[in-house]
Amino acid sequence: MKRVEIKQALQMQASENEITVMGWVRTKRGSKNVAFIALNDGTTINNLQLVIDLNAIPEDNLALMHAGASLWAKGHLVESMGSGQAVELAVKEIGLFGPANPDEYPLQPKKHSLEFLRDIAHLRFRTNTFGAIMRLRHAMMFGIHKFFNDRGFVNMHTPLITASDCEGAGEMFQVTTLDMSNPPRNEEGQIDYTKDFFGKPTNLTVSGQLEGELAATALGKIYTFGPTFRAENSNTTRHLAEFWMIEPEVAFFDITDNMDLAEDMLKFLIQYALDNCMDDLQFLSKRLQEEEKGKKEEDKSMELLSKLHFVLEHDFARVTYSEAIDILKNSNYNKKGKFQYPISEWGIDLQSEHERYLVEKHFKKPVILTDYPKEIKAFYMKQNEDGKTVRAMDVLFPGIGEIIGGSERETDLEKLLGRMHEVGIPGESMQWYLDSRRFGSVPHAGYGLGFERLLLFLTGMTNIRDVIPFPRTPKNCLY
Ligand code: 4AD
Ligand code: MG
Repeated sequence: MKRVEIKQALQMQASENEITVMGWVRTKRGSKNVAFIALNDGTTINNLQLVIDLNAIPEDNLALMHAGASLWAKGHLVESMGSGQAVELAVKEIGLFGPANPDEYPLQPKKHSLEFLRDIAHLRFRTNTFGAIMRLRHAMMFGIHKFFNDRGFVNMHTPLITASDCEGAGEMFQVTTLDMSNPPRNEEGQIDYTKDFFGKPTNLTVSGQLEGELAATALGKIYTFGPTFRAENSNTTRHLAEFWMIEPEVAFFDITDNMDLAEDMLKFLIQYALDNCMDDLQFLSKRLQEEEKGKKEEDKSMELLSKLHFVLEHDFARVTYSEAIDILKNSNYNKKGKFQYPISEWGIDLQSEHERYLVEKHFKKPVILTDYPKEIKAFYMKQNEDGKTVRAMDVLFPGIGEIIGGSERETDLEKLLGRMHEVGIPGESMQWYLDSRRFGSVPHAGYGLGFERLLLFLTGMTNIRDVIPFPRTPKNCLY
């Protein structure tokens, strides 16, 4: 049986030619003479309506075709009289692949809460919402490769197992083959890692940047796109223990070039979503509006498509950390004590409530914050002349806060070593990295885009666990 995909079928004209479709039942309803099955095969958010004449096909043949069951149907397309689609399938033959017992199948044809769906993440792909999100996730993955490929970047696979801690935050998952219940010990009684698989302690990577820099300072323009792992114990709606990151790194780039690239990329991706995923975006927009029905006007987020267009059409604000602190400090929010973490002095790390205030209340558009205090940023960032700040850049988005973190890199070997010493990173273990500053050191810059944060923005979802197929968070690693 040659199968026509539902996406394609829905674009065809009514005709006497017979076609066969296959998929999963979303809903089944009927009357005495006719039954209707909404069939979905994952190629589109839209269902194909099957119209079954019960005088020709006995009701008994449909007995097991409940929501969730899989089936094939053969017939010809007729003009639809009311299913919201142009055509529907007048069924001549129908057959079951696999039943789904309605007393046991957890996905009933009704609205389920996202929390409930998270508990059955293995089945949630079958809902409209997660179908839309997963197609968008795919399109964005593709769009990202297209953006960089079109601009001559080389995609680089950086290692997932590493012995270094790029961000220096110590939030790493250890990788070991030692028997943890009885590890080998050295004379001092410490665990003897020379006996471990790699002969030393290793961990899952928190970022491919350091290896990316090595490649960029030879190939010119590279990007990574891979999973990264962080054992930060933050049970928030924006953090995952395993997430995907896109990290471009470009030789001869300064911080302004870096900001331009980040802004161009984000706008390209939004346009790519609008061009390729309109059905899914429209569905997600309606979903969001439903979800926010009960909310006060001022708490509602902007309609999804308007929000995407809004970001496309405005230049991002570019502001220094010091300017941002002044704005926040003098804000009514701060004065009225509306921040959970009040802004007191220069030097503090910004919380997402501060980032969102800047974006949503003050500038009312995406913001790129630059020149952060060096104490709150990683060791590799280029130090400014003031001795206090580094050439960092974070891109902040509405509803999300930080979506990108990046910087121009320190190119001066002595300054880099000095900073590593201050934060306690032993130079001996990083000779391979330092060689990029020893031999032919060049200005360069890069950033990391959190893939799931991008998807939060594009889908209008509010919990990062809902934009990745199988979320990993503290105390949660199912599947
Ligand atoms: O700001 P971060 O930590 O920057 C880096 O890792 C640099 N090495 C990037 C670079 O310059 N090449 O992380 C970058 C982005 C953040 O802006 C955020 O979007 C995302 O990664 N991110 C997370 N996303 C989900 N869950 C987490 N736990 C995340 N931590 C960071
Ligand atoms: Mg960051």
